[in-house]
Amino acid sequence: MPRAVITGWGKCVPPLRLTNADLEQLCDTSDEWIVERTGISERRISHVEATDLAELAGRRALACAGVDAADLDLIVVASCTPEILCPTMAAMLEERLGAANAAAFDLNAACSGFAYSTSVVTGMIESGFARKVLVVGAEKLRFIMDYRDRSTCILFGDGAGAAVFEASGSDECGDGAGVLSVDLGADGDQGKTMVWTHMGSKGDPSRTIDPDDARLHFEGQAVFKIAVQGIAGSASRALERAGLTADDVDLVVPHQANARIIESATRRLRIDPDRVFTNIAHHGNTAAASIPMALHDALDEGRISPGDLVVLTAFGGGVTWGSVVLRWGDRVEPLGAYEGELPPTDATVFDLLQPNLDFFAPEG
Ligand SMILES: CC(C)(COP(=O)(O)OP(=O)(O)OC[C@H]1O[C@@H](n2cnc3c(N)ncnc32)[C@H](O)[C@@H]1OP(=O)(O)O)[C@@H](O)C(=O)NCCC(=O)NCCS
Repeated sequence: MPRAVITGWGKCVPPLRLTNADLEQLCDTSDEWIVERTGISERRISHVEATDLAELAGRRALACAGVDAADLDLIVVASCTPEILCPTMAAMLEERLGAANAAAFDLNAACSGFAYSTSVVTGMIESGFARKVLVVGAEKLRFIMDYRDRSTCILFGDGAGAAVFEASGSDECGDGAGVLSVDLGADGDQGKTMVWTHMGSKGDPSRTIDPDDARLHFEGQAVFKIAVQGIAGSASRALERAGLTADDVDLVVPHQANARIIESATRRLRIDPDRVFTNIAHHGNTAAASIPMALHDALDEGRISPGDLVVLTAFGGGVTWGSVVLRWGDRVEPLGAYEGELPPTDATVFDLLQPNLDFFAPEG
């Protein structure tokens, strides 16, 4: 049976930074509080749509893998802030990339979206349906952010990350490389702890959107506990399923929600901090994009070596959780690079946030 091996990785972050000092001007918070409680110093805010971020991350991952888009069998985009619902972002990518032979769908498991997508494409590769797959996590989370609500707006940023998966069996992949096991789960009973209604079909077509409903709501402390338990439990089950233990792990690449959640969860797993990758300081929580962005940065910083055992683990709205245990292949360097960039912008970060302020908190 073929295994699903990651052979390409890419990332796209928009240029505009929203720093903690900027947030001090919008709500009652401080750089000191945000850094101490979350580990976040800045996040990016997108001047383009989520599909634009996804396209660039996808092109970079394909160039990294040396894979032609025409050879893709499947494109999956994980997102909880899709640009529109139909056509899906994956279908838009199929057209933009010229991936004429690929099936395409979006998957929403909130922040667990990349772990869920990896599990799904692993099954499709193992069953023989697909040999080359592009998975992208892409988010424009600023769309649901009330920048006067200090309990949520400090956490989230925009961005996209992508990975190319290929069926093992080629020289490219390396012996024994690929996804070894997965664990997925959900608890709808806890769904009320993280809610945004803005983008669904709730109610009548003529409904007016109430800003109070539309903003992201979550119960921070409840989510914190669920997240720590979710990540630790799910990663343990995935390791057990692969016949491995925490001692075998070279690097954990967790969903970047809060540095303290990552510390608590990995402490429970008995994995020391030098085997855990974080880039939350500069990106905040980018939901489904966070793991592929972190995976890209981990490779860029030389934190993954050929043959390493890597664990991807996430939790998110729903609530959902998911983990993937994989053996890295022989190659940790890109085969090529895509030189394109996002279109430039003259806007400031405050220009981009003004529509949110006008909608969510006009009196602020
Ligand atoms: C949101 C979160 C950062 C809050 O951190 P916390 O340590 O739980 O903080 P608390 O909510 O207990 O608040 C502590 C105090 O800080 C205040 N506070 C909250 N947000 C603040 C902010 N941005 N700046 C300054 N003070 C803040 C609170 O009002 C509270 O004040 P009080 O003690 O006077 O009542 C944390 O709970 C969290 O990260 N939860 C998970 C959220 C998440 O990851 N969601 C996405 C899941 S994918």
